[in-house]
Amino acid sequence: MLGKKMMEELNKQINEELASAYIYQAMAAYFESEGWKGMALWMEKQAGEEQVHAKKFYDYINARGGRVRFQAIQEPPFSYKSPLDAFSAALKHEQHITARIDLLVDLARKDRDNATEIMLQWFVSEQVEEEEHATDVVEHLKKIKDSTGALFQLDHQLGKRGGD
Ligand code: FEO
Repeated sequence: MLGKKMMEELNKQINEELASAYIYQAMAAYFESEGWKGMALWMEKQAGEEQVHAKKFYDYINARGGRVRFQAIQEPPFSYKSPLDAFSAALKHEQHITARIDLLVDLARKDRDNATEIMLQWFVSEQVEEEEHATDVVEHLKKIKDSTGALFQLDHQLGKRGGD
């Protein structure tokens, strides 16, 4: 049986993951509107991953006899100054999600809730990847600066993102 506080925080995490999907889908729409098809696809894949993350928490709460409660999702930003601005925001958001996962791990340890701690290990590793992927793009964009040719090349490359 999940502790009351843990169930609240896991439900909040469903909301955080769905909000992430919303943010990334909105970034995809921004990139579409700017003609960056590859970056739009990258963000679309990211949005899909976030829905999978939300479902993992949803399934876990149910498996532990808890009760899922959906909460309102905040409107995501509509636009960005540049691809670098958008990807920097994505990286910052992932750092926020990492902090959330760390908070959940701390709570599981405090409650001596081993099952939840083990379930969360997948997310601990996933966040390393999430931050790495966003950082790679941010660093690349910083090097490119205003070179349109290099930006087109990166856009093409990001459009090849698989289902990682
Ligand atoms: Fe579900 Fe991107 O963290």
